[in-house]
Amino acid sequence: MPIKYASTAAAPLRYAALAQGVAGLVVAGCMVWLAPSSPVSALLLALLHGLCAALVAAVLRLPRWWWLISFLFAPLAVLALGLGWPPWAWLFGFVVLLLVFWRTDASRVPLYMSNASTAQRLAKLLPATPCRLIDLGCGDGRLLRQLARTRADCQFVGLEHAPLTWAWAWLWGLRLPNLYIGYGSFWEHSLADYDVVYAFLSPVPMTRLWDKACAEVKPGALLVSNSFAVFGITPALQVQVDDSRETCLHVYKLAGNPVHTFTSCR
Ligand SMILES: C[S@@+](CC[C@H](N)C(=O)[O-])C[C@H]1O[C@@H](n2cnc3c(N)ncnc32)[C@H](O)[C@@H]1O
Repeated sequence: MPIKYASTAAAPLRYAALAQGVAGLVVAGCMVWLAPSSPVSALLLALLHGLCAALVAAVLRLPRWWWLISFLFAPLAVLALGLGWPPWAWLFGFVVLLLVFWRTDASRVPLYMSNASTAQRLAKLLPATPCRLIDLGCGDGRLLRQLARTRADCQFVGLEHAPLTWAWAWLWGLRLPNLYIGYGSFWEHSLADYDVVYAFLSPVPMTRLWDKACAEVKPGALLVSNSFAVFGITPALQVQVDDSRETCLHVYKLAGNPVHTFTSCR
C-alpha cells in the first residue's frame, strides 16, 4: 500500500501563511468594527494578530511549534521594525538563511553536522576493500572530507540541495580526488552504485528512505543512519559512538545475508 506523505505537517508554510492571512482579516475587521477613537499601539495589535494566527494554526492542525511561530511572527516583526535597520539588511539575512537551510519546511531535515568521532567510527564500518559511499544531504561536506582523507582507496559522493551549503562543500572538496559533491535532491539520485549509504536526516523521511534503499541498492550494501532508526525495522547493528551526544549509528544490511550479530546502543 503506498504511503501518504502529504499533510499540513508536510507543507506547513502555506498553512502558516493562511493562518497569518486569516488573523490579519480578523484584526482589520475588529479595527473597523470597534473604530477606536484613540490610537491603538502597534504591538498590542500585533499580539492580537499573533493570538488569532496561533488559534488558526491549531485549528488547521499544524504541528505545535508552528502555533508558537504563528503567535510570535507579527509581534517580533513589530519589535524588529523598531531596530531601524535598513530594509536590505533584512533581505540579506533572509537570502543567506534561505540559501543555507533551503526548504527545511518541506524536507523536514534541518542542518546539523556529523562530528569527527562519528566519521572515525563510520570509517571502521567500511569494507576493507575499495568501496563507494554516498552521504545523502552532505551538509558542508566535513564528514566526507574526513572519510576521503582516511580512505584514499574509496570513492565518496555527497549530494546537497541547499545552494550555499553545497557550494561550501564543493569548494572545500575540490582538493580531494576521491570526493565528488553534487548539487540536487538525493530523492532523484539512484543508490544502485553504492556499497554504503549514509544518512543523517530526521525521523520524518526514514520510511521513505528505507523504501528507496530497498528498491535501489545492490545486495549486501549497508544503510547507515545517524541517530534516526527506520520505524519497524530491526537494524543488523547499532554502533554507539564515543561522543558527548551519544550518537547511535543504525546499520541496516540490505538484501543480503545478515553478517552481524545484533548489538544495540545504550
Ligand atoms: C542533518 S544535515 C547532515 C549533514 C551531513 N550529512 C553530516 O552528516 O554532517 C542534513 C542535510 O541534508 C540536506 N538535505 C535535506 N533534504 C535533502 C534532499 N532531498 N536532497 C539533498 N539534500 C538534502 C539538508 O540541506 C542538510 O544539509
